[in-house]
Amino acid sequence: MENSKQNIVLRDSTSTSPWQEASWGGGNQPIGVGHQAGKLYDCLVIGAGITGITTALLLQRAGLSCVIAEARQAGFGTTGGTSAHLNTFFDATYPEVESDFGEQAAKLLAAGGKQAMGMIEGFVKELNIDCDFEFKSAWLYAENEKESKQLQKILEAAQRAGIAVESAEENLVPVPFDSVIRFKGQGQFHPLKYINGLLAEFLKLGGVLLENTRIRESSFEDGVFAAKSDADMILTRKMVYATHIPPGINLMSLRNAPYRSYVLGLKLKDGNYPDGLAYDMQEPYHYFRTHVIDEQSYLIVGGEDHKTGHDDPEATFQRLKDYAGRYYAVESVVYQWSAQYYVPVDGLPYVGQLPGAAEGTYVATGFNGNGMMFGTLSAKIISDLVLDKENEYASLFRPSRMKPVAGFTEFVKENADVAWHFIADRFSSSHLQALTDLKPGEGKLVDFEGKKLAIYKDDAGKVTALNPTCTHAGCTVQFNAAEQSWDCPCHGGRFDVSGKVLTGPPTIDLETVIISYDKQP
Ligand code: FES
Repeated sequence: MENSKQNIVLRDSTSTSPWQEASWGGGNQPIGVGHQAGKLYDCLVIGAGITGITTALLLQRAGLSCVIAEARQAGFGTTGGTSAHLNTFFDATYPEVESDFGEQAAKLLAAGGKQAMGMIEGFVKELNIDCDFEFKSAWLYAENEKESKQLQKILEAAQRAGIAVESAEENLVPVPFDSVIRFKGQGQFHPLKYINGLLAEFLKLGGVLLENTRIRESSFEDGVFAAKSDADMILTRKMVYATHIPPGINLMSLRNAPYRSYVLGLKLKDGNYPDGLAYDMQEPYHYFRTHVIDEQSYLIVGGEDHKTGHDDPEATFQRLKDYAGRYYAVESVVYQWSAQYYVPVDGLPYVGQLPGAAEGTYVATGFNGNGMMFGTLSAKIISDLVLDKENEYASLFRPSRMKPVAGFTEFVKENADVAWHFIADRFSSSHLQALTDLKPGEGKLVDFEGKKLAIYKDDAGKVTALNPTCTHAGCTVQFNAAEQSWDCPCHGGRFDVSGKVLTGPPTIDLETVIISYDKQP
């Protein structure tokens, strides 16, 4: 790994994404300017990723008074770790959406993708955001006969939905293929430069950004939400959770499964960087593109996704490196990073009123691997709902929708997995190594004096012990060596090695356990 970790914009990961490098001057927006304690805002947006910032900007522009509360810094979560592909085709394919939701829904989804792309292009032009935004073509390729049959269905359904796509003769990337199709009008950008541009406009219009402000709880009375952080209370008429899964146990925790996705930024020996975007059809899939940073090209290769807490992240990175090395002359791995996204049980995002919560509580989640597009479209949907305007996508994505019959198997599978962890975590105990066996940078679950502990040894040899019971709903966290974090396999909550929350739904840190060192040999 060549990159230094100095001078970077922070995010929920110890591995660095290229977007975090602060050479572009990011992360220096004025914070908290204009906030008045006791003021009643029109809308509180929780989370300063692409979804939250775009929503807040649309509402502020419409004349509302908005405040964004972000637990860490803008772009700290998935927006800082995305591979930043912009597509009008999605992880839920057009044939799947046709079959589960109907042909009209597939057309609507395609229109939504185009609208999101148009919004991003529009903001870039209008606000003059220097964020490396470019339109590119995207190649989707099949590597065997079975995949080719699926690819043909994707081609036909995408065309029926109104997407510009055609058969192609050549693949963009040097991976042997059986058949390939090419989508026009796709895109890419630098996600943090982009949201920084939106944020600057939001602040210019009088919007308020409160960083390092984790909303721990909220109440609702007489049409007003009171949202509390450690230091503040924000009063607001509407509240938007742009945090993936909202805190607490709710329908969204059950209908979305957390996944980690892995990405590499590679320098090549031969300059053979692809001019476009490419995707295979494997499970888990792989994807490619190129990004130029400070005049150096990088091949961005991603994939090998798995459910959070269900695989070894270090082994996953190695598989991805081996995969890239099979097709490209890799000179060095300059960046490697991972990020979290949520897979919705029936394939489509959940955007709108949060079921079971007070009227005027909104959520946007389940974006699958298409967060930049669905985050942008969600901002349009939610801002329309807040403003009491019609929105053509609101019904398709409403969080209270019944799952379609075809999605039922997947629903059962995801929930069976969640249930398994609840049971296994409470009734099984693994007899693992003693503290002294830990290597620096290693974390383990151990049974120690009758207690199950999450222990971690830092590079200086200091051991930290935590109660491994996730503060969300009681599952047991697992150590993620690649990111030096404790990850919860149930709903994707993540904590740093000192137990502080990195990723919700938990809002409370893991409990620290005091170890008596007298008993150590
Ligand atoms: Fe739900 Fe941990 S994130 S139990």
